[in-house]
Amino acid sequence: MKYLEVGHTNIPALGLGTCYIPNEATADIVGHALHLGYRHIDAAQWYNNEQEVGEGIRNSGVSRQEVFLTTKVQRRNLGKQDFLPSVEESLRCLQTDYVDLLLIHWPHAELPLESYLEELMKALEQGKTRFVGVSNFNIAQLKRTMELGVPIVTNQVEFHPLVNQSTLYGWMRQHKLALTAYCPLAQGQAVRNPILKAIGEKYGKSAAQVSLRWLLQLDGILAIPKTANPARLRENLDVFDFELPDDDMAAIAELKRHNARIVPEYHGAAWDDQAAVVWG
Ligand SMILES: NC(=O)c1ccc[n+]([C@@H]2O[C@H](COP(=O)([O-])OP(=O)(O)OC[C@H]3O[C@@H](n4cnc5c(N)ncnc54)[C@H](OP(=O)(O)O)[C@@H]3O)[C@@H](O)[C@H]2O)c1
Repeated sequence: MKYLEVGHTNIPALGLGTCYIPNEATADIVGHALHLGYRHIDAAQWYNNEQEVGEGIRNSGVSRQEVFLTTKVQRRNLGKQDFLPSVEESLRCLQTDYVDLLLIHWPHAELPLESYLEELMKALEQGKTRFVGVSNFNIAQLKRTMELGVPIVTNQVEFHPLVNQSTLYGWMRQHKLALTAYCPLAQGQAVRNPILKAIGEKYGKSAAQVSLRWLLQLDGILAIPKTANPARLRENLDVFDFELPDDDMAAIAELKRHNARIVPEYHGAAWDDQAAVVWG
């Protein structure tokens, strides 16, 4: 496992995404992942399976302290009345006193950024989370967050070989902010890409493994592929015994010309602004 030093802690660079894992399978998949060696789990209120993620961790025999656990406050809970109670509810479902990382899942189109960032800070100060971060924030929103002194350690955004996030990623590197790559397999599109497949054949690896390895070889990236398939859990973790040379890294970086964005305009986030940043 590679670890990324973020905010004076070492985060396992590869984690398990839990979105769309069916509720009845979630506890088993999380337990199996921990058994295989995963130590980073990405959950969210919106995925509606925090309870099962919590069960999976508790039943695994792996101690809570060994697992880097993230959850996210969904948009409908960003109001002052709902924010902290929703975090309490997440902790109850996840069967833990704290998460390692608490994220704002999406910026809110109507509420001012300041109001929910203030609640995020309270969650941090009250020890409900060890670290805080954001997700789906554009550069302007990140700048404002930093100006407010909120000590975010990551921005979780869509990032994989088939999308162009150069501007956002470059800015985040400049500001030493880790990028957590969601949809790191482009929800399966990367698995079918002929160039990734051909590169994989040279190393006896699948296109999925090449995609993950490419992300993990870049600076400051955490990747959280989702699978509900036990064999693929192992496959996605098996990316630490080979290295992509510079020419393959560059060939994969070229694939961003496809600019195949998976997660569309969503929830009224300030997407025009984001589009200028992301596609520019
Ligand atoms: N912050 C946000 O707004 C946001 C948005 C989207 C996602 N996320 C997070 O990021 C995680 C990952 O993103 P994602 O689930 O959208 O997409 P993803 O991880 O890029 O792709 C998941 C898809 O790829 C398949 N897959 C996984 N490993 C494979 C392999 N080795 N070979 C072939 N197919 C494979 C999975 O199918 P099987 O399950 O059948 O293997 C599933 O259909 C989510 O679970 C969630 O935790 C966050």
